[in-house]
Amino acid sequence: MIKIENLTHRYKNRKEDALNNIDLHIKHGESVVLIGSSGAGKSTFLKCINRLVDPDSGKIHIDGKEILNCPIKEAEKIRINIGMIFQHFNLHERETILKNVLNGRLSYNNTFKTILGKFSKEDYEIARNNIKRVGLEEYENERVAYLSGGEKQRVGIARALSQEPKIILADEPVSSLDPKLMREIMDLLKKICEEESITLVSSLHFLDFAKRYATRVIGMRDGKIVFDDKPEELTEQNIVEIYGKTRDWYMYGKLGF
Ligand SMILES: Nc1ncnc2c1ncn2[C@@H]1O[C@H](COP(=O)(O)OP(=O)(O)O)[C@@H](O)[C@H]1O
Ligand SMILES: [Mg+2]
Repeated sequence: MIKIENLTHRYKNRKEDALNNIDLHIKHGESVVLIGSSGAGKSTFLKCINRLVDPDSGKIHIDGKEILNCPIKEAEKIRINIGMIFQHFNLHERETILKNVLNGRLSYNNTFKTILGKFSKEDYEIARNNIKRVGLEEYENERVAYLSGGEKQRVGIARALSQEPKIILADEPVSSLDPKLMREIMDLLKKICEEESITLVSSLHFLDFAKRYATRVIGMRDGKIVFDDKPEELTEQNIVEIYGKTRDWYMYGKLGF
Protein backbone atom coordinates (compact mmCIF):
# COMPACT_ATOMS: atom_id res chain seq x y z
CA MET A 1 0.00 0.00 0.00
CA ILE A 2 2.86 2.35 0.88
CA LYS A 3 6.34 1.64 -0.43
CA ILE A 4 9.17 3.96 0.45
CA GLU A 5 12.68 3.90 -0.98
CA ASN A 6 15.72 5.85 0.21
CA LEU A 7 13.67 8.71 1.53
CA THR A 8 15.89 11.55 2.74
CA HIS A 9 15.03 15.06 3.82
CA ARG A 10 16.87 17.91 5.48
CA TYR A 11 15.13 21.17 6.35
CA LYS A 12 16.78 24.41 5.23
CA ASN A 13 19.56 25.67 7.49
CA ARG A 14 19.69 22.38 9.39
CA LYS A 15 22.88 20.39 9.88
CA GLU A 16 21.21 17.02 10.35
CA ASP A 17 18.79 15.08 8.17
CA ALA A 18 15.23 14.97 9.49
CA LEU A 19 14.90 11.71 7.53
CA ASN A 20 17.87 9.65 6.51
CA ASN A 21 17.55 6.97 3.88
CA ILE A 22 14.25 5.46 4.98
CA ASP A 23 13.20 2.19 3.32
CA LEU A 24 9.86 0.76 4.21
CA HIS A 25 6.98 -1.29 2.87
CA ILE A 26 3.62 -1.00 4.59
CA LYS A 27 1.01 -3.54 3.56
CA HIS A 28 -2.70 -3.08 3.09
CA GLY A 29 -4.60 -3.22 6.39
CA GLU A 30 -1.62 -2.85 8.71
CA SER A 31 -1.82 -0.61 11.77
CA VAL A 32 1.65 0.84 12.00
CA VAL A 33 2.61 2.95 14.98
CA LEU A 34 5.65 5.21 14.86
CA ILE A 35 7.43 5.84 18.13
CA GLY A 36 10.50 7.85 19.04
CA SER A 37 11.63 10.95 20.91
CA SER A 38 10.65 14.45 19.86
CA GLY A 39 12.62 15.39 16.78
CA ALA A 40 13.10 11.77 15.65
CA GLY A 41 11.40 12.51 12.31
CA LYS A 42 7.94 11.02 12.78
CA SER A 43 5.98 14.07 11.63
CA THR A 44 8.31 14.72 8.71
CA PHE A 45 7.86 11.12 7.61
CA LEU A 46 4.04 11.38 7.67
CA LYS A 47 4.15 14.77 5.93
CA CYS A 48 6.26 13.34 3.10
CA ILE A 49 3.72 10.59 2.49
CA ASN A 50 1.01 13.22 2.25
CA ARG A 51 3.24 15.60 0.26
CA LEU A 52 3.00 18.35 2.84
CA VAL A 53 6.79 18.17 2.78
CA ASP A 54 8.73 17.60 -0.44
CA PRO A 55 11.64 15.33 0.43
CA ASP A 56 15.11 15.92 -1.00
CA SER A 57 15.35 12.46 -2.49
CA GLY A 58 13.74 9.05 -2.58
CA LYS A 59 10.57 7.48 -3.87
CA ILE A 60 7.13 6.98 -2.39
CA HIS A 61 4.68 4.59 -4.02
CA ILE A 62 1.03 4.64 -2.96
CA ASP A 63 -0.93 1.65 -4.15
CA GLY A 64 1.72 1.03 -6.82
CA LYS A 65 1.98 4.63 -8.10
CA GLU A 66 5.00 6.84 -7.53
CA ILE A 67 3.83 10.19 -6.11
CA LEU A 68 6.91 12.40 -5.90
CA ASN A 69 7.76 12.63 -9.57
CA CYS A 70 4.35 12.42 -11.18
CA PRO A 71 2.31 15.36 -12.57
CA ILE A 72 0.44 17.42 -9.94
CA LYS A 73 -2.98 16.39 -11.26
CA GLU A 74 -2.03 12.75 -10.91
CA ALA A 75 -0.58 13.32 -7.43
CA GLU A 76 -3.80 15.01 -6.31
CA LYS A 77 -5.80 12.01 -7.44
CA ILE A 78 -3.60 9.71 -5.42
CA ARG A 79 -3.75 12.01 -2.42
CA ILE A 80 -7.53 11.64 -2.19
CA ASN A 81 -6.76 8.15 -0.93
CA ILE A 82 -4.90 9.50 2.07
CA GLY A 83 -6.78 10.96 5.04
CA MET A 84 -4.92 12.90 7.70
CA ILE A 85 -5.64 13.38 11.39
CA PHE A 86 -3.74 15.98 13.41
CA GLN A 87 -2.83 16.50 17.04
CA HIS A 88 -4.46 19.93 17.11
CA PHE A 89 -7.40 18.78 14.98
CA ASN A 90 -6.93 21.43 12.23
CA LEU A 91 -10.65 22.15 12.04
CA HIS A 92 -12.47 25.36 11.17
CA GLU A 93 -13.50 26.31 14.68
CA ARG A 94 -16.18 28.77 13.61
CA GLU A 95 -17.86 26.36 11.25
CA THR A 96 -20.30 23.59 12.13
CA ILE A 97 -19.46 19.92 12.48
CA LEU A 98 -21.28 19.20 9.23
CA LYS A 99 -19.36 21.84 7.28
CA ASN A 100 -16.05 20.57 8.62
CA VAL A 101 -16.85 17.00 7.71
CA LEU A 102 -18.08 18.04 4.26
CA ASN A 103 -14.62 19.55 3.74
CA GLY A 104 -13.40 15.96 3.50
CA ARG A 105 -15.34 15.82 0.22
CA LEU A 106 -13.59 18.86 -1.29
CA SER A 107 -11.01 16.95 -3.25
CA TYR A 108 -13.79 15.11 -5.09
CA ASN A 109 -15.35 18.30 -6.38
CA ASN A 110 -14.12 20.66 -9.06
CA THR A 111 -12.62 23.99 -8.08
CA PHE A 112 -15.65 26.01 -9.16
CA LYS A 113 -17.93 24.02 -6.89
CA THR A 114 -15.39 24.19 -4.11
CA ILE A 115 -15.29 27.99 -4.20
CA LEU A 116 -19.05 28.14 -4.01
CA GLY A 117 -19.03 25.58 -1.23
CA LYS A 118 -21.56 23.47 -3.12
CA PHE A 119 -21.80 19.84 -2.22
CA SER A 120 -23.91 17.13 -3.82
CA LYS A 121 -26.60 15.09 -2.15
CA GLU A 122 -24.14 12.23 -2.07
CA ASP A 123 -21.53 14.40 -0.31
CA TYR A 124 -24.10 15.22 2.38
CA GLU A 125 -25.04 11.57 2.76
CA ILE A 126 -21.43 10.51 3.16
CA ALA A 127 -20.67 13.31 5.62
CA ARG A 128 -23.77 12.59 7.74
CA ASN A 129 -23.05 8.88 7.76
CA ASN A 130 -19.55 9.53 9.07
CA ILE A 131 -20.78 12.00 11.68
CA LYS A 132 -23.05 9.21 12.89
CA ARG A 133 -20.20 6.73 12.95
CA VAL A 134 -18.26 8.90 15.35
CA GLY A 135 -21.37 9.42 17.50
CA LEU A 136 -22.06 13.11 16.85
CA GLU A 137 -25.25 12.87 14.79
CA GLU A 138 -27.25 14.98 17.21
CA TYR A 139 -24.82 17.87 16.96
CA GLU A 140 -24.15 18.32 13.25
CA ASN A 141 -25.07 22.01 13.36
CA GLU A 142 -23.01 22.77 16.45
CA ARG A 143 -19.96 24.99 15.97
CA VAL A 144 -16.70 23.15 16.45
CA ALA A 145 -15.46 25.86 18.84
CA TYR A 146 -17.98 24.67 21.43
CA LEU A 147 -16.85 21.04 21.40
CA SER A 148 -14.53 19.25 23.83
CA GLY A 149 -11.14 17.94 22.66
CA GLY A 150 -12.43 14.39 22.30
CA GLU A 151 -15.39 15.56 20.24
CA LYS A 152 -13.13 17.68 18.06
CA GLN A 153 -11.00 14.67 17.24
CA ARG A 154 -14.16 12.71 16.41
CA VAL A 155 -14.91 15.43 13.87
CA GLY A 156 -11.33 15.07 12.59
CA ILE A 157 -11.89 11.35 12.12
CA ALA A 158 -15.25 11.89 10.38
CA ARG A 159 -13.65 14.41 8.02
CA ALA A 160 -10.84 12.02 7.14
CA LEU A 161 -13.36 9.21 6.56
CA SER A 162 -15.41 11.41 4.23
CA GLN A 163 -12.47 11.33 1.86
CA GLU A 164 -13.17 7.57 1.64
CA PRO A 165 -9.44 6.96 2.07
CA LYS A 166 -7.44 3.78 1.71
CA ILE A 167 -4.86 5.13 4.12
CA ILE A 168 -5.16 7.28 7.25
CA LEU A 169 -2.11 9.08 8.61
CA ALA A 170 -2.58 10.20 12.21
CA ASP A 171 0.14 12.41 13.67
CA GLU A 172 -0.15 12.21 17.46
CA PRO A 173 -3.93 12.04 17.20
CA VAL A 174 -4.46 11.81 20.94
CA SER A 175 -1.62 13.89 22.39
CA SER A 176 -3.96 16.78 23.21
CA LEU A 177 -6.37 14.56 25.13
CA ASP A 178 -6.49 13.13 28.63
CA PRO A 179 -5.83 9.37 29.12
CA LYS A 180 -9.45 8.23 29.16
CA LEU A 181 -10.23 10.08 25.94
CA MET A 182 -6.97 8.89 24.40
CA ARG A 183 -8.22 5.31 24.66
CA GLU A 184 -11.70 6.18 23.48
CA ILE A 185 -10.47 7.96 20.37
CA MET A 186 -7.83 5.36 19.47
CA ASP A 187 -10.36 2.51 20.01
CA LEU A 188 -12.73 4.27 17.63
CA LEU A 189 -10.08 4.97 15.01
CA LYS A 190 -8.70 1.44 15.11
CA LYS A 191 -12.17 -0.12 14.95
CA ILE A 192 -13.23 1.94 11.93
CA CYS A 193 -9.95 1.29 10.11
CA GLU A 194 -10.34 -2.44 10.69
CA GLU A 195 -13.95 -2.44 9.50
CA GLU A 196 -13.09 -0.49 6.36
CA SER A 197 -9.69 -2.14 5.85
CA ILE A 198 -8.01 1.23 5.92
CA THR A 199 -4.25 1.14 6.40
CA LEU A 200 -3.47 3.18 9.50
CA VAL A 201 -0.14 4.85 10.20
CA SER A 202 -0.08 6.79 13.47
CA SER A 203 2.53 8.32 15.70
CA LEU A 204 1.90 7.85 19.40
CA HIS A 205 3.89 8.95 22.41
CA PHE A 206 3.24 6.38 25.08
CA LEU A 207 4.80 3.03 24.50
CA ASP A 208 2.17 0.83 26.15
CA PHE A 209 -0.35 2.70 24.07
CA ALA A 210 1.60 2.12 20.88
CA LYS A 211 1.76 -1.60 21.62
CA ARG A 212 -1.97 -1.80 22.16
CA TYR A 213 -2.91 -0.32 18.80
CA ALA A 214 -0.10 -1.50 16.53
CA THR A 215 0.16 -4.60 14.41
CA ARG A 216 3.66 -3.28 13.73
CA VAL A 217 5.83 -0.83 15.63
CA ILE A 218 8.41 1.34 13.92
CA GLY A 219 10.97 2.98 16.19
CA MET A 220 12.67 6.10 14.84
CA ARG A 221 15.74 7.88 16.09
CA ASP A 222 17.57 10.77 14.44
CA GLY A 223 15.71 10.32 11.16
CA LYS A 224 16.43 6.60 10.89
CA ILE A 225 14.42 3.46 11.52
CA VAL A 226 16.03 1.62 14.44
CA PHE A 227 13.25 -0.87 15.14
CA ASP A 228 10.64 -2.48 12.89
CA ASP A 229 8.73 -5.49 14.18
CA LYS A 230 5.63 -6.74 15.97
CA PRO A 231 4.91 -4.96 19.26
CA GLU A 232 5.50 -8.11 21.31
CA GLU A 233 9.07 -8.28 20.00
CA LEU A 234 10.06 -4.96 21.61
CA THR A 235 12.66 -5.52 24.33
CA GLU A 236 13.98 -3.15 27.01
CA GLN A 237 17.15 -2.97 24.95
CA ASN A 238 15.21 -1.88 21.84
CA ILE A 239 13.37 0.74 23.85
CA VAL A 240 16.62 2.30 25.03
CA GLU A 241 17.91 2.20 21.44
CA ILE A 242 14.83 4.03 20.21
CA TYR A 243 14.58 6.71 22.87
CA GLY A 244 18.13 6.83 24.21
CA LYS A 245 18.29 7.20 28.00
CA THR A 246 16.51 10.49 27.73
CA ARG A 247 13.64 12.15 29.49
CA ASP A 248 11.38 10.86 26.67
CA TRP A 249 12.48 7.32 27.38
CA TYR A 250 11.60 7.73 31.04
CA MET A 251 8.31 9.52 30.32
CA TYR A 252 6.94 7.48 27.47
CA GLY A 253 8.87 4.24 27.50
CA LYS A 254 9.24 3.57 31.21
CA LEU A 255 6.35 5.17 33.00
CA GLY A 256 3.44 4.84 30.63
CA PHE A 257 0.28 5.96 32.33
N1 LIG B 1 9.54 23.15 9.53
C1 LIG B 1 10.74 22.79 9.98
N2 LIG B 1 11.84 23.55 9.74
C2 LIG B 1 13.06 23.19 10.17
N3 LIG B 1 13.31 22.07 10.85
C3 LIG B 1 12.28 21.26 11.12
C4 LIG B 1 10.94 21.58 10.72
N4 LIG B 1 10.13 20.60 11.14
C5 LIG B 1 10.89 19.71 11.78
N5 LIG B 1 12.18 20.09 11.79
C6 LIG B 1 13.33 19.36 12.37
O1 LIG B 1 13.36 18.06 11.79
C7 LIG B 1 13.64 17.07 12.75
C8 LIG B 1 12.51 16.06 12.79
O2 LIG B 1 11.35 16.70 13.29
P1 LIG B 1 9.92 16.04 13.33
O3 LIG B 1 9.68 15.33 12.06
O4 LIG B 1 8.96 17.08 13.72
O5 LIG B 1 10.09 14.96 14.51
P2 LIG B 1 9.01 14.28 15.47
O6 LIG B 1 7.68 14.40 14.82
O7 LIG B 1 9.48 12.88 15.63
O8 LIG B 1 9.07 15.04 16.77
C9 LIG B 1 13.87 17.82 14.05
O9 LIG B 1 15.26 18.04 14.20
C10 LIG B 1 13.14 19.12 13.85
O10 LIG B 1 13.73 20.16 14.60
MG1 LIG C 1 5.92 15.26 15.55
